[in-house]
Amino acid sequence: MQLFTNFQVMPQAETFFSISGIYHLITSSLYLIGLVSIALFLYDNLKSLVSISMAVLQPYFQPHLSQTLADKFGKWAVITGATDGIGRGYAKELAKRGLNIVLISRSKEKLIATANEIENLYKTKTKWIVADFSKGKEIYKHIKQELLGIPVGILVNNVGRMYDYPDELCNQPEDLLWEIININIGAVTFMSRLVIPDMKKQRKGAIVNISSGTELQPAPLVAAYAATKSYIRSLSLAMECELHEYNITVQCVVPGFVVTKMNQFSESLQQSSFFSPPAETYTRWAVFTLGKTKETTGYWTHAIAYCLIKLFPEWLRIRVGHFLSKQLRTEYLITQAKRKIM
Ligand SMILES: NC(=O)c1ccc[n+]([C@@H]2O[C@H](COP(=O)([O-])OP(=O)(O)OC[C@H]3O[C@@H](n4cnc5c(N)ncnc54)[C@H](OP(=O)(O)O)[C@@H]3O)[C@@H](O)[C@H]2O)c1
Repeated sequence: MQLFTNFQVMPQAETFFSISGIYHLITSSLYLIGLVSIALFLYDNLKSLVSISMAVLQPYFQPHLSQTLADKFGKWAVITGATDGIGRGYAKELAKRGLNIVLISRSKEKLIATANEIENLYKTKTKWIVADFSKGKEIYKHIKQELLGIPVGILVNNVGRMYDYPDELCNQPEDLLWEIININIGAVTFMSRLVIPDMKKQRKGAIVNISSGTELQPAPLVAAYAATKSYIRSLSLAMECELHEYNITVQCVVPGFVVTKMNQFSESLQQSSFFSPPAETYTRWAVFTLGKTKETTGYWTHAIAYCLIKLFPEWLRIRVGHFLSKQLRTEYLITQAKRKIM
């Protein structure tokens, strides 16, 4: 009888233990995957904050390593698209920190006015170069000539072109799309190529590439613009690896909305807010991060937004982005219609 019972019970117990064993294996694997994912997410989102905090604390612990931007990278900074918005902000912030500034933009009058303002305010040297990056290949020879003899320590690849307002790719004029490619992809690539050899010789330097929050996922209705900004991030991270051994820093800056003329198609984006600072406020923060982190949104509220957005899957972010761009397009078309009536 005893034998019979054991014979009956044992296989059931074995089955039970093997099922519970598999169950435990699955739950602990899921637990482990969850932990690793959370750790990677936190690392991805906090690494910039950690490296900025370490750099801020460094002077207290290693005062002998403390350096100004000019000591660390060199005395001259070149800024593309330097007469307005974020570029102008960078030029003024870097001059405030004692750097001499080379301004590059299209309009001679605006260049002279910005150069004079910087010289009067900060008593540093300035030089300006008229160049239209939408023209593509032909302008770099002229820029190279103009930069001869200037030891470029910092290059800010800021110049950028957006659509006139959000709309489908097929509705964008062909010339505008070439402009976007020549400016957003061409300028960052060929300006970097132009300054890197001398930076290598000096064994120091920094290249700051201004991307955009639109690089986070494909962005319907600003499709080509967002794709060029993804290019900038990819190029920056690769260049950072290539140039690290030559003591050259490459920083990718990924701003959210900033109040500048680039967003003038929307009245609501022209109002500064918690998530949309004026260009001067934005660049004060962004320049503060230079030399402290390789990748940054440049502004603290943009960092919070970026971190929260990344919690959602890409397909959802694309749909939400599409919806918001449609809203902006409608706002633009209504404003235009009202203007025509008046
Ligand atoms: N504003 C935002 O919300 C925002 C958000 C994310 C990323 N970004 C990025 O930040 C960068 C700066 O944007 P922003 O908003 O400051 O732009 P912005 O206010 O429109 O200023 C653009 C600057 O570039 C110059 N420029 C324009 N076209 C040029 C050309 N073909 N050749 C040479 N210079 C040219 C302009 O001067 P001239 O007209 O005198 O040439 C001006 O100095 C861009 O790369 C943009 O994609 C901006």
